[in-house]
This record gives sequence, C-alpha cells and structure tokens, in this order.
Amino acid sequence: MSNYHVKNLEEYFQVYRKSVRDPETFWEEIAEENFVWRKRWDKVLEYDLSKPEISWFQGAKLNITENCIDRHIYSRGDKTAIIFEPNDPNEEAEHITYKQLHERVCRFANVLKDQGVEKGDRVCIYLPMIPELAVAVLACARIGAIHSVVFAGFSSKALATRINDCECKMVLTSDGSYRGTKTIDLKGIVDEALESCEGVESVLVAKRINSDIQMKEGRDKWLQPLLDEAYHDCVPEIMDAEDPLFILYTSGSTGKPKGMVHSTAGYMVYTAYTFKNVFQYREDDVYWCTADIGWITGHSYIVYGPLANGATTVMYEGVPTYPDWGRFWQIVEKHNINQFYTAPTAIRALAKENLDFVEQYDLSSLKVLGTVGEPINEEAWHWYNDNIGNKNCPIVDTWWQTETGGIMISPIPYSTPTIPTYATLPLPGIQPALMDENGNELKGNLVSGRLCVKFPWPSMARTIWGNHQRYKDTYFSAFEGKYFTGDGALRDSTGYYRITGRVDDVIIVSGHNLGTAPIEDAINEHPAVAESAIVGFPHEVKGNALYGYVILKETGESRNHDNLRKEINQIITEHVGPIAKLDKIQFTQGLPKTRSGKIMRRILRKIASKDTSNLGDTSTLLNPEVVQDIMDNAL
Ligand code: WTA
Repeated sequence: MSNYHVKNLEEYFQVYRKSVRDPETFWEEIAEENFVWRKRWDKVLEYDLSKPEISWFQGAKLNITENCIDRHIYSRGDKTAIIFEPNDPNEEAEHITYKQLHERVCRFANVLKDQGVEKGDRVCIYLPMIPELAVAVLACARIGAIHSVVFAGFSSKALATRINDCECKMVLTSDGSYRGTKTIDLKGIVDEALESCEGVESVLVAKRINSDIQMKEGRDKWLQPLLDEAYHDCVPEIMDAEDPLFILYTSGSTGKPKGMVHSTAGYMVYTAYTFKNVFQYREDDVYWCTADIGWITGHSYIVYGPLANGATTVMYEGVPTYPDWGRFWQIVEKHNINQFYTAPTAIRALAKENLDFVEQYDLSSLKVLGTVGEPINEEAWHWYNDNIGNKNCPIVDTWWQTETGGIMISPIPYSTPTIPTYATLPLPGIQPALMDENGNELKGNLVSGRLCVKFPWPSMARTIWGNHQRYKDTYFSAFEGKYFTGDGALRDSTGYYRITGRVDDVIIVSGHNLGTAPIEDAINEHPAVAESAIVGFPHEVKGNALYGYVILKETGESRNHDNLRKEINQIITEHVGPIAKLDKIQFTQGLPKTRSGKIMRRILRKIASKDTSNLGDTSTLLNPEVVQDIMDNAL
C-alpha cells in the first residue's frame, strides 16, 4: 500500500489513522517517494501555533517547476501538459506538450530576468485564461520571483490596491481578453491602476485581441518579441522549502484584502497529493477545472497539482454560455474529459436551461465530477449527478479555502460513499475540530459548531503579506492552538462533515468571497450616502446575492432612487468589481445598532431573506424602532 495513492475506503481509513498517529513520517514518506529534491530536509515539521510559525521540510532545497515540468520530460515529454480551449469554438485548441511547456517557461523566465526581476521580487499577473498565464506563473516560480495573480475581472482600483500592498515591480498583462461576445480592455485597466502604483517599473503585454492600445514609453513592452529573442533554457533557481511561492489575495470581513502567502515545498507536496487522490487521476486521463487561475482553485488544481502529477490539464478561456449553454458539455466531448471540476453556481445556472444543451453531447468519458467554492444544494447535486454523471460518476464536494492551499475535506471517489451536501471526510493529514462558542471542542458525532483545524498541514498559508499580526488575529486567536476557518459545520452520526456556511461577514456570491467592509466603503464614497450595510440573501443561481441598506444624507434624500441605485452599483464596480454589485438596495432612515454602535447584521440578514418570524430580542438595541420601519419597506 502506498500512502500517496488511496484506492479504497479501507485504505483511506488506514492511511488516515497513520497520518494522525505520526504525521511527520506520513508526509516524509510521501515527500521522499514522489518528488525531486536538490537537498533533503533536516526536519519534516516544526510549528508553534501560538505565534503562529509553521515550517515543513525545513532545510530542503528544490524548485517546484523541476517537479512540475523538467522531471516529466524524460518519461512524458510528448504528452500534452496543457490543452488551451479558446473562447471561440471555431478557433483551434492548442496542445502544449511537457517539452514545449519547458521551453516556453524557460524563455519567459529569461525574459523576466532580462527585465530585472530577481529572486524574491513580486510580480503581478493580470492576464486572461490564455496559456501565457500558466506560463507566467511557472516562469516566476522558475526564477524564485513571487507571483501575485489578480483575477482579470477585478477593477483598476482593486488591482492597484493589490499591486501596492505587496510592492510589485512588474505587471504582466495582455492587450485585452475575450469573454463570450465581449472583449475587455485589460491594458486600459492596468494603465488606470498604475496611475497610483509608483513602484511598478515595467509592464509586459501579451497580444490576444489585437486591439489598438497605448504603450507607455520606457515602461510597457510587447511580450512576444522578447520571448522570441530569449534563450530556450533556464537553470532553475534553487529555493528553500519555506521560500514564498506566491501571494494570493482573499477578502476579509474587515479592511483591505489579505495577501495570503504560500510557501514552496509544503504547498507542492499537498496540492500534488490531493490532486492525485481527490480526482483519482490516471496517466492518460484528461482533467478539466473550469476555475480561473486568478483564484486559488486555479493555482492549485489547474497549474501546480496537475502538473506535479504529469497530468493533462485544460485551460478554458471563455464562459459557460458562449456560444450557447452547451459549451461546457461540448468541450467535455471534444477533449474526452475524464475529471470535471466546477462551482455549484455554474451548475445551478446550467440546470435552469433546457436539457437539450446537455443531451446532444457524449459525456461518457467522465469518471469523476467535482464541486468547490460554496455549499452545493441538494437539487443542483442531483441535476449534476443525473444529467452530467449519468448516475455513475462520483461527485466530490471539496471543501477548502485560499488559506488552506489545498482540498481539506472531500470524498475520495470510488471509495467514500457520497451524500448530497456533505463534503464527507477529512483527507489524510487533516484534523478538523468543531468548537462551541465558549471555545470547547465538541467531541463525538451529531454536533455542530465552528470549524477549526487542530494540527498543521503542509499547504497552510504561512502569513499575510506584510501583516503577521493580522494573520494571527484572524485565524489563530478565536480558538487557542487551532486554525479557525470562519466556516460553520456539522458532523453527522457517521462522522461525515457538512459545511453550513460562513459565520463571519464574508458573503459567498457565485462562489466568490466578498467581504462586506470593502463594499460598504465603496458605497460610502457616494456623495449622497451617509451610511450603509451589506448582507447576503439566498439566490437561486448565485447561492447568495447582496442586499444593501443605505442611509442617505439629507441632501441626497430628494434624489431619484433608481438613479441613485445605478450610481451606487457603478461605484462598487469601480472599487471592487462587477461581481460585488448589489441585487437590491433599500434606502432607509436608520440601521439597527447595538448600544456599542455595532450594526446588527443578523436582523438585516433576516429581513433581506424574508425570514422575519423570529428576529430575536430587539429591545436591547440602541434604536429598536428602526426595525419595523425597515421591515415595512423591505424589497
Ligand atoms: C466556501 C475556495 C461549502 C467556504 C477553494 C470557504 C465551501 C470559502 C466549499 C473559501 C464547499 C469552499 N462547501 N463551502 N465544498 N468550498 N467553500 O478562499 O465558506 O475562495 O471558507 O477558496 O468558500 O473560499 P476561497
């Protein structure tokens, strides 16, 4: 039996027990047998969660791209590493072999070096889902630069905040991107962002849509001519196990986004291990994750996890709806996809359309279906199971976070019996704990509480860029000696976990984490707005949608409310991005507050969800009278 590849339920339990009894030996064996190292570690794990300080494979030396690319060249050099499926179905797909990927990454890495990027420098990547994005990520890793990918749907202001927070000296972007029938002027967004980013010295621009763009003299350069001139081989930088590999921003319930820092060796080992097991990837399989590389799902399960296993991974540039609602299934048929990984929000949207869009395609290649990003409701689960999986593909409902780096709780397909809405069991090496509000661990089954993890795992984020105190406060202070996830969960009578949702002020809209604070800050920028509060309410397709309660300044009260609503959403689009637009905006005279001045979001959430039967005790509020007024005018 190998620890690396779990093949049935009995093995899972054996491996799991071993991983808890002796985590160091467990991970050491996996690290030893499945990766290439330039120097072996001195110590597998060292940690102190009170600080918190965590280090895995300390003393080891490696380069992650040697593991993701070079070592495969001998055994599978002509195997396809990446299939690029363009937005337009009439444009030919691109198959990039491991050999070709090696050359492209090396050339790109040399360009970065020629342009002055050094080990440890931060490089912001703001690219659409084209091969250059994956190549750019790997090129940074090749030379030890820290990549910070920003999802190319974020606004210029959001981009600028992220560039400045980690002081990127270079931005990689493209002249634009395709999304269905639309094109997006990415370079224009970068130009706007850079007006407030003094530290950026250079911008390299990939050509995608052939649009006529402005190039700023001395700062901007076209990427392709540089690649053409660059040398085709690049000696990888030898990194320490704990050197940062990348920064990826995630929303917090308060303040600016948190730049989660992931380190090299632990992240590599864990994403590779979980990819192999959760998708039961076999040598000739073709795997497709529909996420964008701008999110953690794309980092871990489009790029690093699959490539570390020598897999064939698909990158899709477009949207599920173009040219029609059958696009996903057309791609599954076209590339004979074996494992398909997507978000519940996409499934809910697809399930609303006619089944003809599914039935005209041959989906018989599929072996494993996955979901990620939010709870999957029972109806969507059944639609997925019946119509896409034809009732014979296990669905892996994978629970994890940007902070965890890799999948934490998930069935192992063909081993763990699945139940709709349950993420089921922790993967080997993961020790969840459910806590009550007084900080006690809830032992046994049939309990529900706050979800924590009580022992380190290799791919946990090591800090928040530039703010270790915030890292400690956010994740390690609520429950002593434990990592707190911000989610609630229950454990059923058989020990299965079901994630019940966020217990903080993060709202998950269409699978994207949105903190309430940055949206409220944006709204409050509107000259007519005095104060605002955002809550989530259930939405058929998005999972949650946003409901805003807005108090206007006296001067704004006479304004046309429909126009104001448009303007508020416009401001949100500029500051955060279109994803954070509000579905409903209620203008109100007041917001329910505690005596200490805190907005009682619980009440606002209930009103937005039209669930006002039990609002709890409102008499302790500073201003109980506003509650009735808000209810009377609810949308
Ligand atoms: C939620 C995405 C229920 C959860 C990889 C978590 C889920 C947040 C699931 C992290 C799931 C993710 N079931 N909820 N299978 N997967 N979540 O950082 O609230 O974008 O804390 O990482 O998404 O979102 P993030």
